Amino acid sequence: MSIEIDEQKEYIKKIAEENLNKNMKYTILTMGCQLNENDSEKISGMAEQMGYSKTEKFEEANLAIINTCCVRENAEERLFGKVGELKNLKEKNNMIIAIGGCMMQEKHMAEKIKKSYPHVDIVFGTHTLHKLPEDIFKVINSRKRIQDVIDIDGRVYEGLPISRANNVQASITIMYGCDNFCTYCIVPYVRGRERSRNPEDIINEVKEVVKQGYKEIMLLGQNVNSYMRAETKRGECKSRINSFAKLLREINKIEGIERIRFISPHPKDFSDDVIEAIRDCDKVCKFVHLPLQSGSTNMLKVMNRKYTKEQYLELVEKMKNKIPEIKFSTDIIVGFAGETEEDFEETLDVVRKVRFEQVFMFIYSRRKGTPGDKMENQIPEDIKHKRFDRLKELVETQISENNKEYLNTIQEVLVEGPSKSDETMLTGRTEANKVVVFNGTEDMINTIQKVKLVEDHMWYFKGRVIKEL
Ligand code: SAH
Ligand code: SF4
Ligand code: F3S
Repeated sequence: MSIEIDEQKEYIKKIAEENLNKNMKYTILTMGCQLNENDSEKISGMAEQMGYSKTEKFEEANLAIINTCCVRENAEERLFGKVGELKNLKEKNNMIIAIGGCMMQEKHMAEKIKKSYPHVDIVFGTHTLHKLPEDIFKVINSRKRIQDVIDIDGRVYEGLPISRANNVQASITIMYGCDNFCTYCIVPYVRGRERSRNPEDIINEVKEVVKQGYKEIMLLGQNVNSYMRAETKRGECKSRINSFAKLLREINKIEGIERIRFISPHPKDFSDDVIEAIRDCDKVCKFVHLPLQSGSTNMLKVMNRKYTKEQYLELVEKMKNKIPEIKFSTDIIVGFAGETEEDFEETLDVVRKVRFEQVFMFIYSRRKGTPGDKMENQIPEDIKHKRFDRLKELVETQISENNKEYLNTIQEVLVEGPSKSDETMLTGRTEANKVVVFNGTEDMINTIQKVKLVEDHMWYFKGRVIKEL
């Protein structure tokens, strides 16, 4: 553990002493991707050690934290709405309000919060998350507002406490930042340069979550298959586990895990060693999220994705040849600057050819400071929406066709718990991430069950447990 984290632990202790027997509560609202969710789990870990217990209700909270995302515009409206609401609640509980995450790394956003929302006590960034105890301590003791955002690339901090939100799947961040600079994307500007955690730290964390009973782990990074690349280039990687493929193989050896997933790999870096590791490792799900973004080689070039339509399709073919049962999900952006009708048709063509199990579809959102925002040939909103609807229609048709192939098959389902819509039923996921709802008993939770899929409801299946003889 580093000196910085030791220091924060001292602040945690001091706050815990002040909070003792006061029934203090915290709440956290997380926007954005799973990396942010994982950051929030670390924030929760710190908050709980500081003597705050969790509540879902802002009205009850003495400490309210919002962990923001800025990948698309809609998050901004949501944030300002929420921060506005908190103004009235603040007095009631003497609430400390802290806003952090990616959006706070954008100077204009951090400034806007500072100017227009004086009731916000702390603004922290993605590189200063570990300093939250110190920031909170200062607010408690001086009631001064704190702005704790740095622009330089953060380091990797180990040893932060963590309070996981999910009881079945444990998220483990393996690397931070992104060096790819896709022209539409803000992430490299708000998350800094790529830096990987040491394999030993990751493996220890996996062993730890296995001890706690987790069966599935999700390895996280903006570009997981460039794991340890920057470090290797700089001659800083001391371990023999110096690539994503090797990391997968190492984690696969750990006993007690049933499933290993990862997001997101970048198609340009999907080397054969990773494909072979997926094939050889029995616990690695044969289900890969392979972000396409666009099916048009022209657009991919403008997006700085560094692969062509053909290369993407060849990669999919190669993976299908080496791992016949493999399935894919993807991310697609419609309406990026300069996208013509023909370009969009190319995207539809790839969707038809690959037959994804899941497609996360996004309408292009201009992000200040990215090259995409400065491009002149922006697409009118109505055209973007029309294309989005056409893509959605195709995707839905394909999913319902794919579903037919699953009907009446027996799948291994990792059981998560009672279904949200019907508490008397259990819910879980198949290897290809299909949601299955079925009748079962409590002891099945957090185990893998063989379930026959008997009814198709588009976004989920109803299933029946197959009893082993
Ligand atoms: N690093 C990951 C994901 C990053 S963000 C990857 O490369 O796959 C998640 C998704 O949001 C991206 O895959 C992309 O499809 C979408 N996205 C990113 N920037 C966007 C923007 N400006 N407008 C709309 N969608 C965007
Ligand atoms: Fe954004 Fe591209 Fe990096 Fe993904 S790989 S985070 S889309 S810049
Ligand atoms: Fe959003 Fe930051 Fe993730 S911008 S998508 S929360 S890395």
